[in-house]
Amino acid sequence: MTDRPNVPKAPAFPTLGVSLRPDAITDFKRNAERNHEMKTFLSIGAGPGIGFATAERFAKEGFQVVLAARSVAKTQELAERLTRKGYKASSRGVDSGDPKSVTDLIGALQKQHGSIEVLHYNAASMRKAALSEQPRDSFNSDLAVNIGGALVAAQAVAPRMEEQKSGAILLTGGGFALAPSPDYLSISIGKAGIRALAHGLFEPFREKGIHVATVTIFAFVSPDSKEASSVAEHFWQLYSQPKDSWTVEANYGLATE
Ligand SMILES: NC(=O)c1ccc[n+]([C@@H]2O[C@H](COP(=O)([O-])OP(=O)(O)OC[C@H]3O[C@@H](n4cnc5c(N)ncnc54)[C@H](OP(=O)(O)O)[C@@H]3O)[C@@H](O)[C@H]2O)c1
Repeated sequence: MTDRPNVPKAPAFPTLGVSLRPDAITDFKRNAERNHEMKTFLSIGAGPGIGFATAERFAKEGFQVVLAARSVAKTQELAERLTRKGYKASSRGVDSGDPKSVTDLIGALQKQHGSIEVLHYNAASMRKAALSEQPRDSFNSDLAVNIGGALVAAQAVAPRMEEQKSGAILLTGGGFALAPSPDYLSISIGKAGIRALAHGLFEPFREKGIHVATVTIFAFVSPDSKEASSVAEHFWQLYSQPKDSWTVEANYGLATE
């Protein structure tokens, strides 16, 4: 393809109107190349518990991780914990109940890093409320976080994963999917939705080279606990499966385990 006439070529790197030291340009280039070389793990709903533990597990395997949640200050602190340990981590703001916020985040990261190799959808609205207790205007907003954000995020990452014939969409599930609680109605419906999403996408996405999987958690998990590390390990083991033996679901914390 030839260059269009009369269209000035964009400079390869921004100069900001000042001359950069040659070594600064080299650093910039090296960082840009490194960003594209390292596989990217994106956590949506990254808090100090399962979100952080799973991001750290993937960081240990050489992923650059991006932690996203509504509070940028908190995700930044978590990202700094990882960078202090020598991992590559950054933070972003996102409200996963808002589809535009999710697609803007994913679009920006794809521009910066290329395809996202692993999407971990971990956000949930953990509301404790029976039917009669829950404010009427909150059912839809809860489901927008518990299910809608996962759908939109999967939709946004899938085309690039499909081009690369590589990638994983990992969803944090919960035992309420199988044993719904009348006292936690919207999260019970949400976890049933997450499980249905994983099972519904698994087969068609496998054909495209994308591994969709969920860890269904039947235990209480607190930050920095062995439970959080075990859930993270379950996610890593799912991701590490060879393609001909991919599975869609792992259970964590079932009494029979
Ligand atoms: N912990 C358990 O005992 C347990 C048990 C079974 C299943 N789970 C599932 O595990 C996941 C959470 O793991 P965790 O409990 O260990 O929590 P975590 O990873 O420590 O934190 C989850 C983070 O999600 C973020 N979040 C909530 N709503 C969001 C939204 N609308 N947009 C973006 N981010 C949002 C919150 O940060 P911001 O407030 O800053 O947005 C929160 O810090 C959920 O899917 C939950 O249903 C947990």
